[in-house]
Amino acid sequence: MVASANTRLRLEAAHLTALFGQQRAVRDVSLLFPAHTVTAIIGPSGCGKSTLLRCLNRMHELTPGATVSGEVLLDNVNIYAADVNPVELRRRIGMVFQRPTPFPTMSIYDNVAAGLKVNGGRPRGEIDDAVERALRQAALWDEVSDRLRTSALALSGGQQQRLCIARAVAPQPEILLLDEPTASLDPAGTQRRIGGSAVRRIEAYTTIRRSGHPPIRRSSSPESTASGTGQRRPCMTSAAPFRPTRSPH
Ligand SMILES: Nc1ncnc2c1ncn2[C@@H]1O[C@H](COP(=O)(O)OP(=O)(O)OP(=O)(O)O)[C@@H](O)[C@H]1O
Ligand SMILES: [Mg+2]
Repeated sequence: MVASANTRLRLEAAHLTALFGQQRAVRDVSLLFPAHTVTAIIGPSGCGKSTLLRCLNRMHELTPGATVSGEVLLDNVNIYAADVNPVELRRRIGMVFQRPTPFPTMSIYDNVAAGLKVNGGRPRGEIDDAVERALRQAALWDEVSDRLRTSALALSGGQQQRLCIARAVAPQPEILLLDEPTASLDPAGTQRRIGGSAVRRIEAYTTIRRSGHPPIRRSSSPESTASGTGQRRPCMTSAAPFRPTRSPH
């Protein structure tokens, strides 16, 4: 994808390669992610979509034996530089995973508040408001508002996934990486409500859709493709640029 002259670039992967031990999951990927756009990465199962996303906020390095080479530039700063704090970085670039990953020992409230408390020192009322706002954005508030202090594990699978979406959006990340998080949710209602509110409140939005057939490409430039094993090639495609028309809050 080629950013036009009037498009502000937020994130860029440059010659990114990711390995699990000796196994290469992502090979020499160079991609641009302009601000205020929705970007989809499409490809068959196992081609490296989730791994690529995890490299964009330094989650990949948390897997034992996993390594990365190349660069990821956020506003022209390499997120892999030695002086970048990965915890702070993940507050700026949030992520929702393919499967629900609630913190099992925490309540519903504490799961959503977890990201907010990283820096500490916020008044209780402010955290309460942020938790409610995030749960509403994830279309979960009405189902849990009377039991916020109960265990997150008491929620259904779909509710747990919406809880993880709330946890990701609560700190108001600048960029959100979505690894097919709504695939198991009711497509007619919940997905539409979550998608609408999430896209409105974020600056750039990256999502993955799995596809068994070749995706539509906007550009034939080599920079527009992500290469996994080299035999099954995922492709990045950009949705129509999204330009918020009103404040997200
Ligand atoms: N923790 C891990 N340890 C070792 N190899 C892994 C690990 N996670 C993924 N892989 C391998 O890396 C490759 C890319 O996996 P990845 O999860 O990124 O694929 P994907 O495109 O997201 O697939 P799907 O569409 O099924 O979610 C696969 O060959 C997979 O087996
Ligand atoms: Mg995946």
